[in-house]
Amino acid sequence: MSKAQPLLVDLVTHTSYVPPHYIRPISDRPNLRDVQSSDASIPLIDLDGFDGPNRSKIIKEIGQACKADGFFQVKNHGISERLIEDILWVSREFFKLPESERMKNYSDDPSKTTRLSTSFNVKKEKVSNWRDFLRLHTYPLEDFIHDWPSNPTSFRRIVGDYSTNARGLVLRLLEAISESLGLEKDYIEKALSKQAQHMAINYYPRCPDPELTYGLPGHTDPNALTILLQDQVSGLQVLRNHKWVAVNPIPNTFVVNIGDQIQVLSNGCYKSVIHRAVVNNSVERISVPTFYCPSPDAVIAPARSLIDEQKPPMYRSFTYGEYYEKFWDWGLQTGCCLDMFRA
Ligand code: OGA
Ligand code: NI
Repeated sequence: MSKAQPLLVDLVTHTSYVPPHYIRPISDRPNLRDVQSSDASIPLIDLDGFDGPNRSKIIKEIGQACKADGFFQVKNHGISERLIEDILWVSREFFKLPESERMKNYSDDPSKTTRLSTSFNVKKEKVSNWRDFLRLHTYPLEDFIHDWPSNPTSFRRIVGDYSTNARGLVLRLLEAISESLGLEKDYIEKALSKQAQHMAINYYPRCPDPELTYGLPGHTDPNALTILLQDQVSGLQVLRNHKWVAVNPIPNTFVVNIGDQIQVLSNGCYKSVIHRAVVNNSVERISVPTFYCPSPDAVIAPARSLIDEQKPPMYRSFTYGEYYEKFWDWGLQTGCCLDMFRA
């Protein structure tokens, strides 16, 4: 095991100020007073009846949201309240375990399939982020589940169950997104080849001065599609028309966003939008993103039918493995990793 940077969850019990290596330069701070809090501006889509009478209406709503916002929320998604409560509970319990127990999973090597770490990529970044995270590969489940933490004792059962359900939701959304682009319903699923699914449990401790640092600075997600579960604490913000908009949690609702790979497959028609997580000085926050990804050897390129003389291919083709490596190396600097793959 490499020498660990201390986890925040341990650090904050000893500090009442923000340590210098977490402090952003003045030109790159959250400016929380300027954030808009208009929840209504992120579409909330009701998935009830997707496999029945409402399918075409829902596909249209999803298509519009992907084009205009890159982000939407879903309700009546088929994942039970009980399972949502359980996954949030077991996530909190994990971060309450004694340090020695949690640190069994520590690694700062992004290629590890199960790892606990802090910030974003401690090997590459200059300023640290106010976040600890446990990251897991979750599909195919049987390839990875035996590597996951076994404490709390229900961890593997709950996270396994949650991941399987989350995958079911993702596959339905990928169908809807494919159809909304005029593609075969299994187009995106096939383009991802032997798919991969990762999950993070993000833990953002309370922060003495939230104006000085980020939980996660502005970034786009490198994968194809992300389904985010948040607890009841606000912190996610989306960049829209050069302004940050808060996406405040709605119980039993997921936030869905287009990742870089669908922006490429859709030839730029659907947007992988910049978002960030900010912290607060009163309570800790948990979020659980599910990242649906191509397999590392999948070749990603704009869909043929979305290319014509008016719309030449915006991106060159590449393997997801190549993209993913660049993403971690690039370390969440401003802008979008996608710009390195323009045609
Ligand atoms: C992420 C992310 C937002 C949040 O993990 O990629 O954007 O609210 N998380 O935790
Ligand atoms: Ni993200």
